[in-house]
Amino acid sequence: MRILIVGGGGREHALAWALRSSDLITAPGNAGTAEFGCNVEVAPHDIENLVAVARERHVDLAVVGSEVPLVCGIEEAFRASGIPLVGPSSAAARLEGSKAFAKVFMTRNGVPTADYSVFDSDSFDKALAYLRECEPPVVIKASGLAFGKGVMVCQTTQEAEAALDHVMRAKAFGSAGQEVVIESFLEGEEASVFALIDGDDYVLLPTAQDHKRIGEGDTGPNTGGMGAYAPAPVVTCEALDRICHTIIEPTLEGMAREGNPYQGFLYAGLMMTAVGPKVVEFNCRLGDPEAQVVLPMLDADFEETLWRAAEGSLGNYRLSHKKGAAACVVMASGGYPGSYEKGFPITGLKEAASLSNTVVFHAGTSMDAGGATVTSGGRVLGVTATGIGLREALHRAYAAVDQIHFKQAYYRRDIGVRGLAHLEV
Ligand code: AMP
Ligand code: GLY
Repeated sequence: MRILIVGGGGREHALAWALRSSDLITAPGNAGTAEFGCNVEVAPHDIENLVAVARERHVDLAVVGSEVPLVCGIEEAFRASGIPLVGPSSAAARLEGSKAFAKVFMTRNGVPTADYSVFDSDSFDKALAYLRECEPPVVIKASGLAFGKGVMVCQTTQEAEAALDHVMRAKAFGSAGQEVVIESFLEGEEASVFALIDGDDYVLLPTAQDHKRIGEGDTGPNTGGMGAYAPAPVVTCEALDRICHTIIEPTLEGMAREGNPYQGFLYAGLMMTAVGPKVVEFNCRLGDPEAQVVLPMLDADFEETLWRAAEGSLGNYRLSHKKGAAACVVMASGGYPGSYEKGFPITGLKEAASLSNTVVFHAGTSMDAGGATVTSGGRVLGVTATGIGLREALHRAYAAVDQIHFKQAYYRRDIGVRGLAHLEV
């Protein structure tokens, strides 16, 4: 089957790796995806040209990595061309594209989430009055897509007032801040749960935990994610059961009932609170770097899995997971998530990849004129390994990291520490 993967980060390299026995085209791809097929120079938001490529090259199935094309309607464009695509329609992708929509949807469907209120751009004074009634800490969110930057966790009312001003008056996030969600702070440990939904039925992928902050001990600014592991021991079997019954099922049933049946990956970002799991956010795609640990843990024909999701035939299909664990350490350019230099040669990739049970996923890499792999982005590599348990997976991932060198490389040394703590109790 010929499959088009839309995107060019570590997540899309992981998708290509999981689909490596298929005939693959990746748009735009990266140095890693090029190993499994061909890359075409079309940007993920260039929906018209993606459809054109898919038609010309007789693509049988498309799968979308990131949220932007989904929110912009890529599913509708492919459907109109008769090419099956794994990913929700733009109406269903509002679960990620509009936090205001997601919150109101959750309330309507009884899905547990933080208490909140939504305000539009004309209601600054009302928002301020509401905020002053809230017990800090409080969380201010730009409703629209803000590339992970639109969420501000504020420890004091004063900080929250400044954040509100930043979003609503200074319009720091442009149109993404036209609506603002003010919500209460949830205490607990975060976890990511991924379902693949075909409109009616779903299968679960392994759970995972991301490491969003740049610094060790979860300090410093938020990033796209500095590492991940799967499964996440904080999500016990009982908790997962509860997540299915109180979050995943009401969400897919609610979306179908309201006329926006959900097809594709649904990523529930959860807080495991003292009173049970609550939704922090929904995303309409796989996580990055979570995909790098979740996909290696599947024990399935992934092409068939995706095809069934796109065709609505997940029915009583069972998606098996491997035993053991996977861990991914992100190697980033020094300075990320702020400014950083690019173009540094990367050495040791072959040595790292030759280690047992290890895969090095490329994110911000490219080839220079002489064919050498060089850094070209903030998150450069997702160094991933599997093992009989989390400890072994982490040990292997860090052994591979030790082989890889580029100027100003930065990575966290404490990936998986929370997971290990659960396993050692
Ligand atoms: P989001 O983009 O909504 O996932 O938010 C980014 C990060 O902000 C989350 O991963 C959490 O670490 C944090 N966050 C968002 N909302 C809340 C909340 N209500 N309580 C605690 N932390 C939150
Ligand atoms: N790793 C967080 C995300 O993909 O949104």
